[in-house]
Amino acid sequence: MISLNNVHYRYEPEGIAALRGVSLEIKDGEYVALIGPNGCGKTTLIRHLNALLLPDKGSVEINGLDTKIAKHHTEIRSCVGMVFQNPDNQIIGMTVEEDVAFGPENLRLPAAKIKKRVAESLQRAGINDLATRNIENLSGGEKRLVAIAGVLAMNPRYIALDEPTAFLDPAAAARVLETMDNLHRAGVGIIHVTHKMEQAALAERVVVLNKGAVYLDATAAKVFAETKLLQQINLRLPQITQMLLKLKKSGLPVRTDIFDPDEAADYIGQLIKKK
Ligand SMILES: Nc1ncnc2c1ncn2[C@@H]1O[C@H](COP(=O)(O)OP(=O)(O)O)[C@@H](O)[C@H]1O
Ligand SMILES: [Mg+2]
Repeated sequence: MISLNNVHYRYEPEGIAALRGVSLEIKDGEYVALIGPNGCGKTTLIRHLNALLLPDKGSVEINGLDTKIAKHHTEIRSCVGMVFQNPDNQIIGMTVEEDVAFGPENLRLPAAKIKKRVAESLQRAGINDLATRNIENLSGGEKRLVAIAGVLAMNPRYIALDEPTAFLDPAAAARVLETMDNLHRAGVGIIHVTHKMEQAALAERVVVLNKGAVYLDATAAKVFAETKLLQQINLRLPQITQMLLKLKKSGLPVRTDIFDPDEAADYIGQLIKKK
């Protein structure tokens, strides 16, 4: 379990507080979306999950290990993998295999085990075909998947991803999201920082941060039903929710808790047929 208890963090002594009393528990295998206005503290929060940042006040515990204790850092960083906003910041190798091997090599695993880990990680990230490719020649989407494979090579229980589909075209973004979904199905906890509401709605749970504090924390259906509260912090609703709400306002008795386009189309189709 990941447990944040009243976490406060300030980058500069005189600057504004980036986190002001965040308390949050994330269970094993959960799929959580973390959303909120620009500058609300999303990146700062997930950097606390693998001890890249340490709280000024309060505590972060990963499976009971306090991030403030330096001797826990190796274990904590194996447990919570981090996919940074810019994959170039975490890709080190020349080729994909080389890069993915970097983590297990650092753990000083025997060569055969490293080879196996690399093969498994490429498989889990869906990029077997890229194994021998030169990193420089990869697309942005492929680089994200390499970063994910690199993290998987540490066998993490959770992966935190910071805007993993930023700057990707729709097809590449869909591939990254599908990989995240597959990992979740395989039992890996996912913490997905995003400003895309349609993507947030894919998570089991949506945590909204505002000004460094938890603003809402519930299922997607419950969070996106809070239209007024979301408006107050300038967050828009998923497009499908906007459409369903308009239909409802016009007098149609429609559900507004559907986020998948195909499901929404089926649902509306059924309503029309019934008329
Ligand atoms: N390296 C930094 N130095 C000083 N202030 C920072 C730094 N990184 C972020 N901040 C500030 O901390 C607050 C939270 O930022 P961040 O966690 O990046 O928000 P988000 O990811 O939600 O956009 C913002 O006010 C931001 O300007
Ligand atoms: Mg950010």
